[in-house]
Amino acid sequence: MKTMLNVALPKGRLGEKVYDMFEAAGFECPSIRDGGRKLIFENEAAGVRYFWAKPSDVAIYVERGAADIGVVGKDILVEYSPNVYELLDLNIGRCRMAVAGPKNFSDDSSRPLRVATKFSHIAADYYAGQGRDIDIIHLNGSIEIAPILGLSDVIVDIVETGTTLRENDLEVKETIMPISARLIANKAGFRFKNALIERIVSELSAQMEA
Ligand code: PRP
Repeated sequence: MKTMLNVALPKGRLGEKVYDMFEAAGFECPSIRDGGRKLIFENEAAGVRYFWAKPSDVAIYVERGAADIGVVGKDILVEYSPNVYELLDLNIGRCRMAVAGPKNFSDDSSRPLRVATKFSHIAADYYAGQGRDIDIIHLNGSIEIAPILGLSDVIVDIVETGTTLRENDLEVKETIMPISARLIANKAGFRFKNALIERIVSELSAQMEA
């Protein structure tokens, strides 16, 4: 039986763009475009099996070897430090990690800053680097409502177009780091399927230069 390459794609718009890149690289699996709720797609002739994972779970599949490679935001790699190889910056899914808060916010350094975020490690490291005491409030989504309701002083979150902040009367206070999508590989898979994975890396790199 032919060896299959298992590829974890982040469900959503970014994942669709990533699939387009893999298709152009010669790893097509047309049934993936059929829509519906199916999550796993295979093209045995091309030797590839794709599956849609929640973006924040892609690195877990890759770290544990359920996927050989996958695509994940740099934010997830910095936040969770999965034990994987980071092979390539795909230059898509560009956004930034930022501190944001109400326009009239002014920091009171006599008490810990209350920070709401999905990215507790990134927030903790950032403020530790500044020597600022913080109280982290870990949330799972819709972070922007936290300062509006007085749950937090500021948020640490992804800003892409800035629309969510604008429409909720918040603004960026500081940029923490730029983010983009990265191709990652399982460490053992990278050794065993090296020729194939290297081919994908070079095909995807060529598309980015084109
Ligand atoms: C992300 C992020 C911001 C928004 C930023 O949220 O947490 O809320 O996108 O994008 P923008 O700058 O283009 O408005 P996501 O859609 O992933 O939802 P959630 O965090 O509320 O789950």
